[in-house]
Amino acid sequence: MDHFQLKNGVLHAEDIPLSQIAEEVGTPVYVYSRATLERHARVFREGLKDAGKVHLAFAVKANPNLAVLRILANQGYGADVVSGGELQRALAAGMKAEDIVFSGVGKSREELTLGLDQGIGQFNLESEEEGVMLAEIAASRGEKASATLRVNPDVDAGTHAKISTGKKENKFGVAIDVAPAIFARLSQLDGLDLRGVAVHIGSQLQSLDPLETCYARMGELVAQLRGAGHTVTHVDLGGGLGVPYKPEDNPPSPAEYGAMVARVTRDWDVTLMFEPGRVIAGNSGVMITRVIRIKPGLGSDFVIVDAAMNDLMRPAIYDAWHDFEAVEPSGETMTASIVGPICESSDIFAKERVVDRLETDDLGIFRTAGAYGATMANTYNSRPLVPEVLVDGDRYAVVAERIEPATIMAAEHVPDWLK
Ligand code: LLP
Repeated sequence: MDHFQLKNGVLHAEDIPLSQIAEEVGTPVYVYSRATLERHARVFREGLKDAGKVHLAFAVKANPNLAVLRILANQGYGADVVSGGELQRALAAGMKAEDIVFSGVGKSREELTLGLDQGIGQFNLESEEEGVMLAEIAASRGEKASATLRVNPDVDAGTHAKISTGKKENKFGVAIDVAPAIFARLSQLDGLDLRGVAVHIGSQLQSLDPLETCYARMGELVAQLRGAGHTVTHVDLGGGLGVPYKPEDNPPSPAEYGAMVARVTRDWDVTLMFEPGRVIAGNSGVMITRVIRIKPGLGSDFVIVDAAMNDLMRPAIYDAWHDFEAVEPSGETMTASIVGPICESSDIFAKERVVDRLETDDLGIFRTAGAYGATMANTYNSRPLVPEVLVDGDRYAVVAERIEPATIMAAEHVPDWLK
């Protein structure tokens, strides 16, 4: 459930007409709903009510906007970060260092050091080599870094290949069959407090089955590690729960997910950690765009909008579907391809789709754009970087400004020797 609904014939974010934001801030623009973010954060937590001791770390990569992170910090969420930049954002937004988990296959020496400097709660190690490096840095400072070993369970998540992470050919984690030996070696190192294991098999999962298979394997691994004399107090079960992008999508609910987790992990006696991203932020945001013009096409018309693949990359790179609706629907429909102005054929949001009828200058929205939307935007074709707005009841704020080409050019330099 989200708070982007029609009221008096106009789509609103909570109590604000989206047409008002489009007028005042311009388009394209992302709009987030505070009430929706808070609701999703609460529902995910409540889903895990029978799962014992739980630590929730929002996957910052899904939506790193500082205002969004602050809302989640206020909901008691920590952060799952994958770069020094995300770590700085989580701290700047008010997340507690001890609630921050540092994931990622390529943490540099500088990033590991930053994590130690800031006293973050846990490093999820993705290789023995990374563990050795972290242990060296921590030991040289007379410290012990809390860490888990990320395992690759070789499970097919059944999602898009580009967002699958838990098959043995993927770069993530260490293969589950060699995990006990690597765990044993790393646990000997002075600079590490290796306290558990972590896993994440992919994103936008549509079924609980691969997750259950994966978690069952993790349970066996925990038993095996304990059998070998290791102490295991933390298991990080990652993120990945899918959201509906189309009305007919029916991903498992947080309650169903939580019930499965509670059942599978009943005897583990650990703190369970989670890294949800999309399920919290996805349906908490939309992107508003304005029709530039309509151009006749061969099969159907092209609706050329002022948003492009640089603003919302998901359709171009994953063939992702985002529902498209008019901000002020007339009730009539049309079959059209929704495209942006960029000079690439992949700059297409919807191909020959039945959508609300739109004319030049009308406004439309792409739904489910709160996760992996603005954060993946760029300035290709020297377009501005898309701004972000947060709505809270009958007020709103610009929480990320539009960055114009002039600002970006100001950071570029033509060397004297070219003048
Ligand atoms: N934890 C780890 C270690 C991850 O790699 C990810 C996502 C998450 C948590 C959060 O997953 P979520 O709950 O959001 O599914 N750009 C792609 C998604 C990439 C996801 C990468 N990792 C997209 O737009 O679909």
